[in-house]
Amino acid sequence: MGASRGEFTSRLGFIMAAAGSAVGLGNIWGFPTQTATNGGAAFVLVYLILAFCLAYPAFMAEILIGRYGQANAVTSLEKISRTQMQKRFAFIVGFGGIVCAALILSFYGILAGWMTSYAVESGATIIGATSVAEWAVSDSIARNIFFCAVFMFLTVIIIRNGVEDGIEKWSKRLMPAMIGLLILLIIYVLTLDGADKGLEAYLNPDISRVLDPDLLISALGQAFFSLSLGTSVMVIYGSYISKKENMVTIGAQVTFIDVSIAFLAGLLVIPAMYVALEQGVQIFAEDGSLLAGPTLVFQVLPSLFDSMGQLGVFVGLAFFILMSIAALTSSISMLEGPVSFLVERHNIERKTATTWTGIGILAISFVIIFNIGTMLDFVATLATEYGQPIIAMLCCVFAGWIWQRNSLIEEIKQGNEQVESTLFWKIWPWYTKFVCPLAIAAVFIHSFI
Ligand code: PFF
Repeated sequence: MGASRGEFTSRLGFIMAAAGSAVGLGNIWGFPTQTATNGGAAFVLVYLILAFCLAYPAFMAEILIGRYGQANAVTSLEKISRTQMQKRFAFIVGFGGIVCAALILSFYGILAGWMTSYAVESGATIIGATSVAEWAVSDSIARNIFFCAVFMFLTVIIIRNGVEDGIEKWSKRLMPAMIGLLILLIIYVLTLDGADKGLEAYLNPDISRVLDPDLLISALGQAFFSLSLGTSVMVIYGSYISKKENMVTIGAQVTFIDVSIAFLAGLLVIPAMYVALEQGVQIFAEDGSLLAGPTLVFQVLPSLFDSMGQLGVFVGLAFFILMSIAALTSSISMLEGPVSFLVERHNIERKTATTWTGIGILAISFVIIFNIGTMLDFVATLATEYGQPIIAMLCCVFAGWIWQRNSLIEEIKQGNEQVESTLFWKIWPWYTKFVCPLAIAAVFIHSFI
């Protein structure tokens, strides 16, 4: 089965693919805005602690379940279940993750389409195609549908080609390009007037906020979204890792890359906001809070690029290409969740399964586009604030309570013989059994109330 279902050909291949899934709009857009509106470095500090202490253990649970099962999320969870009842529960949790990935992709594709449309606007401005540039950023339904479809088309093309020729090949190309662009943009923005004030706002912690429950919830939600947890994605990516690899190390490496890129994105976006302020662009809302969300990315930053004269349009182009690439390596992982399920459980050929799943998810995106005022927020909240934490928590319950301990140890030991004498092994089993499920449940209940 192993060879026919595909496997990442190298450690780097997995790291780039998993980091590609993890690093996305959540890092480059979500993290800096959350930081800017939640007490600067206080948020960063809490985020770092939660990412390593809660999200990393949950991430390990998911990739280990996948590598053991060597299959899609549903089948992998079923393989660690023993009783009939557990198997039924496994189906619900695995399938829930797949639905969650599909729902996230349905709205993520719209946001990613906007990023692509702004990149097209900059490109069209450079070559003097003014009417194309104007249309690309017009707020019309036709433009939203067009760019969302283009983005979904790219996602489908990559996933149709499978693990090595699709996910791995493209992640290995796109991730270095994205990191290179990010670093170039940071260097440039930090040379501009006003950037130092942004750095100060970013790196000066408002310590009084560290224990603020709302900040804790936002940071945990951000960490889970960022590591793509609770969506079946890391289970399926884990299933493509070779049995020779040391899971503890590569899991930590992916978490480290994800957190580092979020941190770097903060070094770009927050100083850029203050550079914009220096140029006379409005960055505060009427109540004195920083403009966040779509206003930041689609108004504040474009105004900044405009104020830079000739060069600005190239900087804008680089920024929106960066965003589009980051989104693409994430969206392919979301599509792989449902596709692997259809291929493995229903014997549907990969190319057919990919095309039809893509069309189905695009149909949901269209419904959202036609009802954007009400549905975008609804679907995003449903999938990321409820679906992801619940399913991630249940995956920890599977790893901690249902998976037979000997079989779990055997799995971790593959590629890591000495694991039983490591600090990881002393802590992690307790974490997945008690700390992660309880912490996630606590946060979830708090946000629900
Ligand atoms: N981790 C991605 C980001 O930070 O943008 C988003 C994401 C990817 C969420 C894949 C869920 C998922 F399954």
